[in-house]
Amino acid sequence: MARTDGPSELWVSFREYFAGRTPFYDRQLLDAVDRGVRQVVLLAAGLDARAFRLALPHDTTVFEVDSDPVLRFKQENLDRIGATPSCRRVIVPADLREDWSSALIDAGLRTDQPILWVAEGLLMYLDRIESDRLLSVITAQTRGEGSIATEYPARFPDAAIFAALTTLETDRAAAAAMASLVRSGPAEPPAEWLCRYGWSCSSTDVASEIAASRRKVPAVFTDWTRGVPVWLLSGGRRPSTSLRQVSVAERPRGRRA
Ligand SMILES: C[S@@+](CC[C@H](N)C(=O)[O-])C[C@H]1O[C@@H](n2cnc3c(N)ncnc32)[C@H](O)[C@@H]1O
Repeated sequence: MARTDGPSELWVSFREYFAGRTPFYDRQLLDAVDRGVRQVVLLAAGLDARAFRLALPHDTTVFEVDSDPVLRFKQENLDRIGATPSCRRVIVPADLREDWSSALIDAGLRTDQPILWVAEGLLMYLDRIESDRLLSVITAQTRGEGSIATEYPARFPDAAIFAALTTLETDRAAAAAMASLVRSGPAEPPAEWLCRYGWSCSSTDVASEIAASRRKVPAVFTDWTRGVPVWLLSGGRRPSTSLRQVSVAERPRGRRA
């Protein structure tokens, strides 16, 4: 939607945003497989190519959850170029507003085994209630060791903030279209939100990740006068249900948790 035939500030900021966050999620995934996690669930996977692009251990299963038309479009194009995944790849057509976890379990997800949940480019399209519902389902289906990677802005980016992403009149319509898609996301900062569901959390932000990739950070991510929020990238962990039960059972009497 943004101009590509010249220096469009909006387009550059999106491009750098994606370039900044991609290595963060790659690391979360590679660190998880290093820890022995062999199940990865890509929620709203879209055209995510990590099952092909990252050299994952062959006994890893990547579950890709998205709507049926998107997954079909993706498969047609993968088939056309003869792409083969480095690991086991299971596509799970499901509507994230409905009972998607049953579809995942039917597709072979073992909820008692370690899982990495990836929600990339998703929470900014959900409201608070939908975000809470999503994390409740994720948490309920994490009985083994859990890992999660996700992102959302530190505060709700309203239409004025999207408009501030560009000074070019030609990009205003694209900025307004993006603004019409975003929702509030979770009500609290990631550390509080994930903690409420029993997950630990550590966060970085997109500007730091862009800089760490030795790319030029667009001014919009550091020029706070424009009101653009910090876009946070967060990773979380949750011990397995059996470990949580042992620690409760073993807690010395008379001591507060
Ligand atoms: C912004 S894209 C993110 C894609 C990918 N995770 C990435 O970061 O490149 C959002 C994805 O959510 C999917 N999606 C939107 N609504 C959905 C729903 N109700 N159920 C399942 N997937 C949905 C879309 O098809 C799209 O692929």
